[in-house]
Amino acid sequence: MAVRKILRMGDPFLLQRANEVEEFDTPELKQLIEDMLETMTACDGAGLAAPQIGVDQRVVIFGVEHNPRYPEAEEVPLTILINPVIEPRSDEIEIAWEGCLSVPGMRGAVPRNTSIRYHGMDQFGQSIDRTVSGFHARVVQHECDHLDGILYPSRIEDMRYFGFTEELFEEGSLGNPHASCET
Ligand code: NI
Repeated sequence: MAVRKILRMGDPFLLQRANEVEEFDTPELKQLIEDMLETMTACDGAGLAAPQIGVDQRVVIFGVEHNPRYPEAEEVPLTILINPVIEPRSDEIEIAWEGCLSVPGMRGAVPRNTSIRYHGMDQFGQSIDRTVSGFHARVVQHECDHLDGILYPSRIEDMRYFGFTEELFEEGSLGNPHASCET
């Protein structure tokens, strides 16, 4: 196991569409997931996509246990999701703060579908199929965007709400940045 280096915005690798995983339950996939879990934990992140550590595979992990760093964040079960597909459940859009381990020190207010169904596989090739809303839905949309080469800043509609965390939240006027997570 190893903590891997996280690529940062500006690295062209983060702008590529990642490839589908074709074989499950392999030593290579197991190693990748172990590295991703260790890296996410080391960075205190809520999620991580394989392209963020320079791996061209459609693999994301996410999960939020109760975390003192994000006291207001809803809990999300630790999930390994491969070849994911997302379907919005309604037209309802919610705007909330997001951060990204590939865009360190910054936050932006990002519109996302409030309610989604997502499906895909786990590392053993077992099907995952869930309908979720709120923060859970947001994290999944953020992570899956990474697989299509999309970073959250390109989804921000009002660029006044994109900036350095310390500056944005200095006066506390914009709410608590720690209600959002870096993923
Ligand atoms: Ni991210």
